[in-house]
Amino acid sequence: MKPEIVRTLRALREAVAGWKRRGESVGVVPTMGALHEGHLSLVRRAVEDCDRVIVTLFVNPKQFNDKKDLEAYPRTEEEDRELLRPLGPDILYVPDAGEVYPEGFATTVSVGRVSEGLCGDFRPGHFDGVATVVAKLFLQTAADKAFFGEKDYQQLQVVRRMARDLDIPVEVVGCPTIREEDGLAMSSRNRRLSPEDRATAAVLPQTLMAAAESIESGADPTGAIGTARQRLRDAGFEPVEYLELRGADDLAPMTQLDRPARLLVGAWLGNVRLIDNVPVTPLN
Ligand code: PAF
Repeated sequence: MKPEIVRTLRALREAVAGWKRRGESVGVVPTMGALHEGHLSLVRRAVEDCDRVIVTLFVNPKQFNDKKDLEAYPRTEEEDRELLRPLGPDILYVPDAGEVYPEGFATTVSVGRVSEGLCGDFRPGHFDGVATVVAKLFLQTAADKAFFGEKDYQQLQVVRRMARDLDIPVEVVGCPTIREEDGLAMSSRNRRLSPEDRATAAVLPQTLMAAAESIESGADPTGAIGTARQRLRDAGFEPVEYLELRGADDLAPMTQLDRPARLLVGAWLGNVRLIDNVPVTPLN
């Protein structure tokens, strides 16, 4: 019954080789499980675009800089499989750590520039962990297309750069952020918010969108960002780690809206770290 659970690289490669012999295209949706509507939207898109779809479920120890965060990460394989069933992906690849990082594993993939600043400043080593595991998953699955959410915008750019730089023949497809009714970006972390903080959390996207609109209408980005930071602090976000305007493609810092940009934020509410971002587009 779909999705078939595959736990070994050998079995995965056999399945993929059979598909490729028949000329079928392969899509991959890398996840760490605890699936929500955001992940499911990626799987739907992959199923639409590709003949065969692999969803990967691997809680990657190398991208957690806090051991407690790794231990607390929800592991919900059975529920995840149930959620995937109606969507029809072919394989749920659930490797154990030894399948991804075998004895003696000593390689790190480190992507410069786009991984600097923003989350990179506050989660040392995180993007090395992401780039390393995603490179492995691209090579293990031999996927033609890979689907990532724009919610983790910096991660998306890191993965794109890594695939380009290493000549991995995969098309990285960025998919729109899926939001709750009040605008909060869907994330596995949202379930850790207290009911009170959950109500406040919507201020994050509201503030981001208001600042983006005001910059698009000609306001000075530095002023608009200062106002937005203050609004977040007043609502109870502490600390606001970053709120920055960056180039949409290269994530270079911007002080003027002279090309397509992204406004990105990382901020804590209670003991939960939330991130979000929105496009900021010059009007002419
Ligand atoms: O976005 C995630 O869930 C993870 O960072 C990813 C891409 C699956 C790599 O472990």
